[in-house]
Amino acid sequence: MTSGYPGFEPVLTTRIPLQESERKIVWYDEYVRTGGYEQLKKAIKMAPDEITKLVTDSGLRGRGGAGFSCGQKWSFIPKEKKGLHYLAVNGDESEPGTFKDRYLIDYDPHQTLEGCAICSIATQVDVIYLFIRGEYHRQIKVLEKAVHEAYEKNIFGKNSVIGRPLECYVHKGAGAYICGEETGLLEALEGKRGWPRIKPPFPAIAGAFGRPTVINNVETLCCVPWILERGAEWFKSMGTKSSPGPKLYGMSGHVNHPGVYEAPLGITLQESIDMSGGMKGGRHKGSICGGISMGVLGPNELDIKLDFDDVRFRGGCLGLGTAGMIVMNDKTDMVSALRNCVRFYSHESCGQCTPCREGSHWMRKILDRIVDGGGRQKDLDMLLELEKTQGIMPGTTICGLADGTAWVTRTFINKYYDEFSARVQPDGVKTVKLTINAGRSNVLTPMGSNTR
Ligand SMILES: Cc1cc2nc3c(=O)[nH]c(=O)nc-3n(C[C@H](O)[C@H](O)[C@H](O)COP(=O)(O)O)c2cc1C
Ligand code: SF4
Repeated sequence: MTSGYPGFEPVLTTRIPLQESERKIVWYDEYVRTGGYEQLKKAIKMAPDEITKLVTDSGLRGRGGAGFSCGQKWSFIPKEKKGLHYLAVNGDESEPGTFKDRYLIDYDPHQTLEGCAICSIATQVDVIYLFIRGEYHRQIKVLEKAVHEAYEKNIFGKNSVIGRPLECYVHKGAGAYICGEETGLLEALEGKRGWPRIKPPFPAIAGAFGRPTVINNVETLCCVPWILERGAEWFKSMGTKSSPGPKLYGMSGHVNHPGVYEAPLGITLQESIDMSGGMKGGRHKGSICGGISMGVLGPNELDIKLDFDDVRFRGGCLGLGTAGMIVMNDKTDMVSALRNCVRFYSHESCGQCTPCREGSHWMRKILDRIVDGGGRQKDLDMLLELEKTQGIMPGTTICGLADGTAWVTRTFINKYYDEFSARVQPDGVKTVKLTINAGRSNVLTPMGSNTR
């Protein structure tokens, strides 16, 4: 059980001990011994619509970042079957600060597989692709062995217990962040460059190989067997009204005990820090919530609830994202922290959309200049102007990667404006050090209006 949250009985990590030394991989026999695959047996006797309704009623929202209703997504898959249906499981997990899916696969891989099999009944899926981040070498091996076991036990295969053939493949990503975006993932799955697709059509209608496809995050699917076992009302008894259920929080940065913790959705930022052993090395200065795409919660926002709404409406971030929290103490240089984030986006932009490709590049260059001591006051205005041009929210780009660039920039500069302001010089500076080659070499350059 991996919960440090007082009074909370873990759900998704029931089979994963809190103490690292006690953790072991739960293979098929142990999974079945502890109640595993019982919910699949139950699902086999249910009508597909009945399963989808139960999941919809539970209020389960996707744990991959967007927080979309899982049951609703399943209901978009056409009922009338005209060919193959696919399930693409998103285990790409490249969002900085996020490492929860790795944990679930690391120790309890059959939980994900049971969720997949139940989803396959509900949405008439024929083939499951487990898309996993290429750098997850250990987890790939674990998953491959678990899939092999599941084939041996006829969970998958021509004679699957679901009553029709159900195939399952582990597909390794090649290490690009953009392949975590659901349509970039589909392109990669089809053997192409991971370029996100313009939507519509949405994957539920034309996904992998042009066929109806469900795309769900690992943690989302892990919730499904529990909903079947204990019901929608039980699921809603945890968390908040709009964000029910348990959640894995990936706690990293300046906390005493970094790691993955399970708690209900909607605990406060302060509680999440307490759960992971409290602040390390100083007072709380800020916390990136949900991976860097979501933005940062400031020093006075420790009471913000970590659910899909409070983080957004009161905390001013894009959302809860993956609940991968990077906690920062008062010794953290927020200007450099933002520069790191923007450098990541400019590196990972797939380049299809001009605002994302060019904007993130210019934002990185401006931040390099500020970090190197040559920033001007108006650079801050320029960054805030540029971020407004980024993303599917203003409707200028194909995917949400650019929103990540926008929100992290917006929240960092607005919440730490004085710190940024203190790092720039009054306008009219004649020369400036510019960083080129990702910060490895500096050159002195005459500065004029051409730097805009
Ligand atoms: C740039 C980008 C990267 C993403 N990376 C991931 C990822 O690594 N894992 C994931 O589950 N979702 C990721 N997402 C979200 C997916 O597009 C999609 O919403 C999610 O997989 C759907 O599953 P869910 O509804 O179960 O959350 C990413 C989105 C964007 C825009
Ligand atoms: S927003 Fe950026 S990453 Fe997404 S499709 Fe456009 S260029 Fe590629």
